[in-house]
Amino acid sequence: MRLLRQLFFVFLAVGLLGGILMLFAYDVIKVEWPSFMEIQPSFRPMEKPLPVPERSIPVEGAVAIAGLGAPENPVPADETSVARGAQLFAIHCQMCHGPAGEGNGQIAPFLVNFKPANLTLPIVQDKSDGALFLTITNGVKDRMPALNENLTVRERWDVVNFIRTLKAATP
Ligand code: HEC
Repeated sequence: MRLLRQLFFVFLAVGLLGGILMLFAYDVIKVEWPSFMEIQPSFRPMEKPLPVPERSIPVEGAVAIAGLGAPENPVPADETSVARGAQLFAIHCQMCHGPAGEGNGQIAPFLVNFKPANLTLPIVQDKSDGALFLTITNGVKDRMPALNENLTVRERWDVVNFIRTLKAATP
């Protein structure tokens, strides 16, 4: 009889303790544990960037509205814009597309599956400014990287204005 009573108290104690622990384990009583930076959503070097949250708009405003086609070029192709475009092209595009946009950049020989487009050809030049802008913004899937993170909206239009001069340069 004494043994039973002792057992009863042991089980009661264990049960109570477990019950109290459960309150915390199942967040009935929520404890704000210190959180660690390394367990937040993040991406590591060479990982694809996290997708943009749904229904969010970049700080610069939406560059193009889906379903409304390519945007209009708001930046006049004046000397300043073309000069800036040339500089930005040299930094962001030349290694693939070549100094004159002919598709013969330094790393072009190493791109095995798809060669960079020759930007002087009608197949590119006949596209609208907006279409070129979207190519820079979104890249070409599995072929050319999206450069929207490297170039601001204004800078992308400058590059587009510069691409237009490549056409005139070829006979
Ligand atoms: C990593 C190499 C690489 C870089 C950097 C790059 N491109 Fe490209 N680009 C490519 C490749 C490869 C293609 C060919 C895609 C295809 O075969 O359709 C291409 C195609 C294009 C086209 C033609 C797209 C079409 O639909 O015909 C344009 C315009 C273009 N690039 C512009 C640019 C501009 C402007 C930049 C810099 C802001 C740039 N590219 C940077 C590799 C690159």
